[in-house]
Amino acid sequence: MNHGLFIVIEGIDGTGKSTQVKRLGDWFESQGREVVLSREPTAGPWGSKVRESAASGRLSAAEELQCFLNDRAEHVRELIRPALAAGKVVILDRYYFSTMAYQGARGFDPVEIRRRNEEFAPVPDRLLIMDLDVDTALERIGVRGDTANEFEKRDSLERCREIFLSLRDESFVRVVPSGGSLDEVAEQVCLAVSDLLD
Ligand code: TYD
Repeated sequence: MNHGLFIVIEGIDGTGKSTQVKRLGDWFESQGREVVLSREPTAGPWGSKVRESAASGRLSAAEELQCFLNDRAEHVRELIRPALAAGKVVILDRYYFSTMAYQGARGFDPVEIRRRNEEFAPVPDRLLIMDLDVDTALERIGVRGDTANEFEKRDSLERCREIFLSLRDESFVRVVPSGGSLDEVAEQVCLAVSDLLD
C-alpha cells in the first residue's frame, strides 16, 4: 500500500488557495491516489465558533487562538491522522501556519504558536505557500483599501505575508508565485509536489 502524503496549501486571502487545492486533488487522483481534501477552520463546533466571531468580532484574541487550536486538535485526531494512516493523500487549505501568520499579526509570537501546534499536529510532507503582493490579493477579493478598516486589513495582511515567507528556507516548504493564470499556477503547484510521488 502507498504511504500517506500530507500536503498543505497556505497564503493570504486572495491568492487562490481553494482552487489550487481542488486542482491538486484532481491531479493526485489522476495519478491513481486516493485523496482527502479539507480546510481550516473546519465546519466542526470550534471552527464554526471562530468563523462566526470573524463576522461579529465577539472573541478576544486569546479566545480566538484557543478556538483555532481546539479546532485543529479535533481535525488532526478525527480526519488527518486516520486518512494518512490509511495511505491517502491529505491536502489542506490552511493549517497551523495560518495561525502563525494571522494570530502572529494580532500580536502573538509566531515561533511560540508553532511550538504549541507541533506538540500535537503532524508537520506536512510539503507546505506550499501561495505568494502574491497584498495589493493584488486585496483587489482579487474586492477590497479597495481606502477605508480605515480596510487600511488595517492591508497592514495585517502584509504582516501575514511576511510571516508565511519567513518559512521559505525550510526543506519541506516551496513558495509558489500566484500572479499567473489558474492553469499556470496549477502547473507550478504540481511541479512543487511531483518529487513526493517517487
Ligand atoms: P478562509 O479559509 O479564508 O475562509 P473563507 O474562505 O471562509 O474566507 O479562513 C477564514 C479566516 O480565518 C482567514 O481570514 C484566515 C483566518 N485564520 C486564522 O486567523 N487562523 C487560523 O489558524 C486559520 C486556520 C485561519
